[in-house]
Amino acid sequence: MVAKSGNYHHGVTIGIIWGFIFMLVTALLLICGCGQSESTSAASLTPALEVEKMRIKLPKPKYNSDVSLEESLVKRRSVRNYTGELLTIEEVSQLLWAAQGTTSDRGGRTAPSAGALYPLEVYVIVGDVQDLTIGIYLYKPKKHELVMISDKDVRQQLTGAALGQSSVKNGAIDLLFTAVYQRTTVKYGDRGIKYVHMEIGHAAQNVCLQAAAMDLGAVTIGAFNDHEVSKILNLPKDEEPLYIIPVGKR
Ligand SMILES: Cc1cc2nc3c(=O)[nH]c(=O)nc-3n(C[C@H](O)[C@H](O)[C@H](O)COP(=O)(O)O)c2cc1C
Repeated sequence: MVAKSGNYHHGVTIGIIWGFIFMLVTALLLICGCGQSESTSAASLTPALEVEKMRIKLPKPKYNSDVSLEESLVKRRSVRNYTGELLTIEEVSQLLWAAQGTTSDRGGRTAPSAGALYPLEVYVIVGDVQDLTIGIYLYKPKKHELVMISDKDVRQQLTGAALGQSSVKNGAIDLLFTAVYQRTTVKYGDRGIKYVHMEIGHAAQNVCLQAAAMDLGAVTIGAFNDHEVSKILNLPKDEEPLYIIPVGKR
């Protein structure tokens, strides 16, 4: 009997302790908000953070066409005026692939890169493209996809940063090449800076030739205020803008 009563009291005490622990944990979860469901916490993100999560799978690029390399070389010319017609998402996909797309299972790209260190990033400032909303996107070569980082049309602002060059605001898109020098200088020291500049030439020429092959107009723009461009795109501190390439129908 005594033993039974002792067990009973022991059981009650354990029950009270567990009850207390349960209430304490619940209160802590409520205070720190850890108990929110995923959808509730996503809804409470700022719009900018939600935009940041948007990924767009690009259509597969074509690996052949009726236009020869020689014809593209002959046709390539700096084109600064565009008709204002929309580009297709296929055309954007093709240009990005030409710029930095992958061409081997091991990650090799359309342009050579010193030590295969790939210091370049490509942003697309989308204005007039079918099936792509206006905004700024970062190209991800491995998955051939875009990550939206802003839903603002910054073409006008970018034109200001590019000393008023109207091709920047009139292009259906602007490609912006940036470089993270550190990726190359970590191996090659100061000589790596030269290598990055050589590499952007390769990548930009790929874009120019691909644009020519698709009968699109493009121009390589180097005259702009670096600081202003970095600010407009909110670029990471270790990334420097190198080239703007507006592209549009000609
Ligand atoms: C490094 C570099 C920077 C350039 N910057 C500009 C520029 O800021 N604005 C522009 O309209 N064209 C720019 N261009 C394009 C040249 O003006 C153009 O290539 C040159 O006039 C020759 O004409 P083509 O490209 O039609 O052969 C640049 C070209 C290079 C290679």
